[in-house]
Amino acid sequence: MKATVLAHPNIALVKYWGKRDDALILPHQSSLSLTLAPLSVTTTVEFGAASDQVEINGHTAKGSERDRVLRVLEAVRGEAGGKLGPAKMVSRGDFPASAGLASSAAGFAALAVAAREAAGLKADPKVASMLARLGSGSACRSVQGGFCEWRRGERADGTDSYAVQRFDAKHWPELRMVVAILNRDEKEVKSRDGMKHTVDTSPYYAAWVKDAEAEVPRAVEILQRKDLQALGELAERNAWRMHSTAFAADPPLCYMNPATLGLIQHLREQRKKGMPVWFTLDAGPNPVLLTDAAHEVAAEALARACGAVDVIRCVPGGDAELKGEHLF
Ligand code: DP6
Repeated sequence: MKATVLAHPNIALVKYWGKRDDALILPHQSSLSLTLAPLSVTTTVEFGAASDQVEINGHTAKGSERDRVLRVLEAVRGEAGGKLGPAKMVSRGDFPASAGLASSAAGFAALAVAAREAAGLKADPKVASMLARLGSGSACRSVQGGFCEWRRGERADGTDSYAVQRFDAKHWPELRMVVAILNRDEKEVKSRDGMKHTVDTSPYYAAWVKDAEAEVPRAVEILQRKDLQALGELAERNAWRMHSTAFAADPPLCYMNPATLGLIQHLREQRKKGMPVWFTLDAGPNPVLLTDAAHEVAAEALARACGAVDVIRCVPGGDAELKGEHLF
């Protein structure tokens, strides 16, 4: 009745930006991401408590944060046939929320896998991915490691909208992601609200959906041949296009700040001098640099020279796991 699971966050190379169904968290387009180690969130779920309890990073969760967790627990109780009572969930991440990397992605992935284990259900990455999706869309891509593709699916009930692993973490061990923390402030507009505002008001939104969907198979093909330059170029243009749809929203939405642009400019100059480094950017000011093992130290130095207050160097991460034990 109790299980503890560790999961890693992920960074999208082709981003998810906009829902066709807000309640079921169904995206307009497919997306593709890379799981990030060593960063992780560890979550314990135990059924049999007196009432539902949700603790995240030492605090009792309230409001929508609590509701999202309860929604996942409720779905597991349903899957288990309604025989399970209230649960206690305790979750802790080992990286700062200010990193701008959604700890919710790793958190909901760990929760989905842990809750199903605690309920005695058979480990299944597809079912766990759909369950994690109910907490946060990007979480469906953190159930498995390596490179995961979230297929948008076609069905209205969401039963074909989940992430599949395209390549595992061992496929490209030299790949590096360097998180450049330029600003620790909490972002003004959360991804959930920003993407909804973009869907509702950006005249460029339809073009974004069409383009991003077409980029996913290209990204898979590039990953297959491990072409860093092609991947970097694809990740950059996809990030620019996501941000462009947001700039065009009404009122406009801008997640970048002057330091973000300064770093991007500097990165271009370094690239002209021969350094293999590209960026991607989620809904916040902190870029993630894409490079290889031979250049990760130089990429960190570049980020610090551009004002990064902290830098986290990441490698491709593995599947969500039951404390040291592989499930899938
Ligand atoms: C820019 O998954 O946090 O990071 O589904 O509303 O919880 P909800 O949103 P969330 O959005 C992630 C947006 C992104 C791009 C991405 O990770 O694909």
